[in-house]
Amino acid sequence: MMDMPKILVVGSFVKDLIVSTPRFPNAGETVLGNSFQTASGGKGANQAIQAARLGAHVTMVGKVGDDVYGREMISSCLECGIDCSRVMMDDKAPSSIGNVQLQIGQDGKTQNRIIVVPGANMAIQKEDIRFLETEIANYDMVLLQLEIPMEINELVAEYAYQKNVPVMLNSAPSAQISDCLISKLTYISPNEYEAADLTGIRIHRNGQNVNEKDVKAVIHSLIERGAQNVLITLGSMGAAFGNKKEFYLCPAVKNVSAVDPTGAGDSFVGAFCTLVSMGIDYERAVSIANYVGALTVSHMGAQPSLPSLEQVKALIHERDDDVLLGLQKAAV
Ligand code: RIB
Repeated sequence: MMDMPKILVVGSFVKDLIVSTPRFPNAGETVLGNSFQTASGGKGANQAIQAARLGAHVTMVGKVGDDVYGREMISSCLECGIDCSRVMMDDKAPSSIGNVQLQIGQDGKTQNRIIVVPGANMAIQKEDIRFLETEIANYDMVLLQLEIPMEINELVAEYAYQKNVPVMLNSAPSAQISDCLISKLTYISPNEYEAADLTGIRIHRNGQNVNEKDVKAVIHSLIERGAQNVLITLGSMGAAFGNKKEFYLCPAVKNVSAVDPTGAGDSFVGAFCTLVSMGIDYERAVSIANYVGALTVSHMGAQPSLPSLEQVKALIHERDDDVLLGLQKAAV
């Protein structure tokens, strides 16, 4: 069996407060919802947990408040075997919370809207992460998102770049990113809306298909700005991957019951990074990550729905898809 990759996530913890409703309220309107629950989330912690559930050795660096939510979120990561020894507790800022509204329509279609109040995530200081300047060299891949201060992402990306450690930036939630940061990235992964904000290029859909020309234009634009590889998540259309030489458009997994899309992008990114770090080629990594995302949408809540390697293998096996060979070749 191969050595599993060592992955560092510098990112957010968010406690998700989830209400489900038959329809989103309009401005100024009140609607009666169906249910309420809480779940641990946050793009950083979700991606860390997904990587760990696929077998990676994961270290999480981030900040929570010194409160019940903070302790619960650290516990969720510890339960998955994640090294949280570098997770900090802020004595002033509270833990971040996410207001997650989940619309479950009469047709069974689900959609979410999320407002994150960043709390302690935005209290990470440069001094808090200086130790990474040398320690970053111990990792096979670094994962970043945009729920912590931009200057922290810039510093971590710089450290990784100096030590030749591949860096993935999941550019969510949407924000403008400097060319300097983009040029330090091995991988950048926006969804189609974040991609439009970053590049000004909208990805159009022709019925059931995405417009490939638009997708290639987004990839080209980000490569021009210095990114090495671009991975675009396209929801029910799957995902696209491109660099200067390769281009793959991998369809989403069909016939999966969509219960809650929260965390699907995170599971996809966490899985892609783990699989690529295991030596799986890009096209297979995207296809397998699509299965991981599909399993995530089929359960409620972000972290509770992130699948294990065994669950992923079982679904691929059930669909008789030869991407399974990719996982078997990596002997996991
Ligand atoms: O990507 C989903 C996550 O975004 C949720 O868990 C929520 O906490 C927000 O950070």
